[in-house]
Amino acid sequence: MAAKRSIVVDTDPGIDDALAIFLACASPELDIRAITTVAGNVGINRTTRNALQLIGLAGRSGIPVHRGADRPLRGTWTTIEDIHGQNGLGGVTLPGATGAESGPAVDALIALLGSAGPDSITMVLIGPQTNLALALRRKPEIARAIGEIVVMGGSLDPAGGNTTRFAEFNIHVDPLAAEIVLKAGRPMIWAPLEVARQASIDPLWLDLLRAVDRPCAAAAADMLDFYIRSFSRGAALYDPLTILALLAPELFDLRAVALEIDASETETAGQTRFRPGAGDGRIRVAASCKADRVRTLLLDRLAAL
Ligand code: RIB
Ligand code: CA
Repeated sequence: MAAKRSIVVDTDPGIDDALAIFLACASPELDIRAITTVAGNVGINRTTRNALQLIGLAGRSGIPVHRGADRPLRGTWTTIEDIHGQNGLGGVTLPGATGAESGPAVDALIALLGSAGPDSITMVLIGPQTNLALALRRKPEIARAIGEIVVMGGSLDPAGGNTTRFAEFNIHVDPLAAEIVLKAGRPMIWAPLEVARQASIDPLWLDLLRAVDRPCAAAAADMLDFYIRSFSRGAALYDPLTILALLAPELFDLRAVALEIDASETETAGQTRFRPGAGDGRIRVAASCKADRVRTLLLDRLAAL
């Protein structure tokens, strides 16, 4: 087997985050060096508790979990319990966490990246990007350790947001952080709203997951029972697309783009302006995917956990 890819997952679990975390835990290609939590879908206490419980259920309570930012760099935000439930996991009660928190996220990112070799760490950002932005502000030189940043965020359509007309949730919550991370100059892959919608799951897929009858698959199915109610036709599993793009990049149409993030405080705040064919190749966006094979890979991996 090729060398494992060292990843850090920065997350606001969150139901689709939960599946991304399960998927990463089920993938031997990945070495999860740390999980850092951020406020987003629900508040920081719940996202942190959820992360600890999720890795506990997956049998990976040895993964360090670091509590991160409880608010964006600027202004405030609105949590989305209507989509993720009051507890952030669709009301599903998981077994109590077996591990404890391992200290503040920004300190952990600086220590981990500061001691890692050049280009050796992949950052998986599936919530507001506040933690990495704070770490980069405090110690910009840690960027050299980041080989790639995979982001769930943004929309190909500049008026195709899911939070405002112009902005996707993760970027809308903290557009300034997203701009700081973008300007760190590291290779990036973006998984925007549209590619997740293309790979949406339906009740039949959910029935296949439930039939697996293993703890993580059962918990995921129960969470998705709540989550799927927020969608009219099929549920977009946004965050797992980042992990799937790492596991099977051949299933994605990755296009080189230039990217500009609107970090203003106007109605277009959080807008992601992708320009295909521009840029130096550092930034790529998943324009589409082989949806059936993406859904099958996700199901197969969750079934193995
Ligand atoms: O817009 C989708 C993103 O916002 C996902 O990361 C979801 O978990 C929420 O955080
Ligand atoms: Ca998320």
